[in-house]
Amino acid sequence: MFRNLVLVGFMGSGKSSVGRLLSSLTGFALVDTDTLVAQEAGQSIPAIFRRHGEEHFRALETGVLQSLVGRIGLVVATGGGIVTVEENRRLLPQIGPVVWLDASPDHLYQRVKHSKRPLLQTADPRRTVEELYRAREPLYQEAATVRIDSTNLTHRQTAEAVLALLRQQQEQQQQ
Ligand code: S3P
Repeated sequence: MFRNLVLVGFMGSGKSSVGRLLSSLTGFALVDTDTLVAQEAGQSIPAIFRRHGEEHFRALETGVLQSLVGRIGLVVATGGGIVTVEENRRLLPQIGPVVWLDASPDHLYQRVKHSKRPLLQTADPRRTVEELYRAREPLYQEAATVRIDSTNLTHRQTAEAVLALLRQQQEQQQQ
């Protein structure tokens, strides 16, 4: 078995919901880097972006990842932009196998279009999703151990697919 399990993926990819299911299937505790960042800063994510900017938010995210290295028994759900920082791409696999929850940009947009996420408060959020997705795709690829396309899957099917893939991968490594 793995020590922890890390979920990365674009906003709306289902990291929190799938993370909750994975937590109940594995018995691991669910932690969410956005929640830890907000706790650390004593303010909400939109407030951090508004008052201090994205760079400050990214530095807080890195601090949270550093604090998770060495812990065991966690499902770690991350913020969608965590892979944009090189140091984070280095830290993520040190925590545990990194699972990229992927879906088509169109699907992702449908899931986030009514949300208040700071980076999507633009004149054309559909285009923003498309552009951010294209820019981040290679970074998720670089950080991840496995990729699951959840476009046509329920959260439960996605969680089960994650565990099946990780177990399959472990078996292959043991051979
Ligand atoms: C962000 C995604 C958000 C949150 C912040 C920045 C991003 O998390 O960390 O608003 O850069 O994609 P979710 O992926 O959970 O929405």
